[in-house]
Order: sequence, then structure tokens, then C-alpha cells
Amino acid sequence: MDDLRPFLLAGIAVCVAILAGLGLTLLLPAGAPPQAPTAASAPVPIGGPFTLVGGDGLTVTDADFRGRFMLVFFGFTHCPDVCPTALEEMGRTLETLGEDSKRVTPVFISVDPERDTPDMVQDYVAFFDTRIVGLTGSDAQIDAVAKAYKVYHEKVEIEGGYTVDHTALTYLMGPDGTFRQLFRPQETPEERAKAIKAAIAAEPETTPQEGS
Ligand code: NI
Repeated sequence: MDDLRPFLLAGIAVCVAILAGLGLTLLLPAGAPPQAPTAASAPVPIGGPFTLVGGDGLTVTDADFRGRFMLVFFGFTHCPDVCPTALEEMGRTLETLGEDSKRVTPVFISVDPERDTPDMVQDYVAFFDTRIVGLTGSDAQIDAVAKAYKVYHEKVEIEGGYTVDHTALTYLMGPDGTFRQLFRPQETPEERAKAIKAAIAAEPETTPQEGS
């Protein structure tokens, strides 16, 4: 992480600009239909495989969400303001999506595995919306998923304990697990829902699976 630090400390605004640029390049090849990439070779700069722990203590991987859109946010349960706001807005985005919310799994990933146990995270997110999946993991698992999503997170000592500075972006991932779009904090749930609806409309559900 040390080699990334100067870049990351340059600020979230810079980060947003770079990520937005990456998003743009992903969206650019509109001429040719994108090849369905194999899981191993997907040329995706944001996201990727992860292995984490769910509220029941069981292992959860990215593959468990395949076939559904994912709305991913990174944070921690002791967060005083940014995370509660983001989760509240995630709930409102789901409400605004209506029926389309059934194709979206909202996911909250802790960047504070030291304090955030699996059941703590799940209880925390359920307070905002019971559809949100709360995930945590080992330090190594969290570092890996944060790195894959280009998420900055830094423990900061404060009086009586510590807080965690972290990226406050929300990621939309497609049914194939690849990155689609990111939402900045200032974008409203209505704006997000509109964009997500468009993404869903562009990818009609294929062969409904039995037994979900
Ligand atoms: Ni937070």
C-alpha cells in the first residue's frame, strides 16, 4: 500500500476524477458489442473476485452475486456521518427502484474488520434496509477487496480510539460482476435509481432461474 499512498493522499477528488475516467473508457467501445469475458480474463480495472464473511459467519464471494446487479459501498459501523448517510440513501435508492430493486443486491463492506464482526455489520445495515448485505472479513480479505475496488481506507487515531477515513463512492456492478458505474455522494437516490434502471433495462434478465 505504501507505494499507492502519495497518490491516494492526493485526495478523493482526484480519485473520483481518475475513476470517472476509467468508467468513461469502459463505456466508450459502443460500436462493438462487448465480448462476454471469461471470469479470469475480464479486463476490468475496478472490482473483481473477493472472499469475505457474511452476517451468519459464512464465506461470501463475488460469485454469489453473479446474475444480479450489485450496489457496493465501503464503510464501517462506527462511522459518525458518511456511512449512515450513504446507507440511508442506499435504502431510498432501493425504494425508488421499486420492482427493479429485485435485480439489485446492495452490499456494504466494512473497512474496519478489527471492530466490525460479521453480526455487527449485518445488524448495522439492517437498521437502514433489511435488503442490504453486510460483509466483513480478515484484514487481508478487506485489504484485497478494497484494493480491487480502488478504495482508500486509513485508520486515524482520535481521542479515545480511532476512526477510519475511507472512500465514499458507491459502485454499480453488473450481473457478470464487472464494473458499470460509480455514484458520488452528492448524487441523489433519485438520480442513482434512474441510472440503475437504465442499466437494468439494457440487460434484460436472461432465462429466469428456478429456485431462488
Ligand atoms: Ni463512513
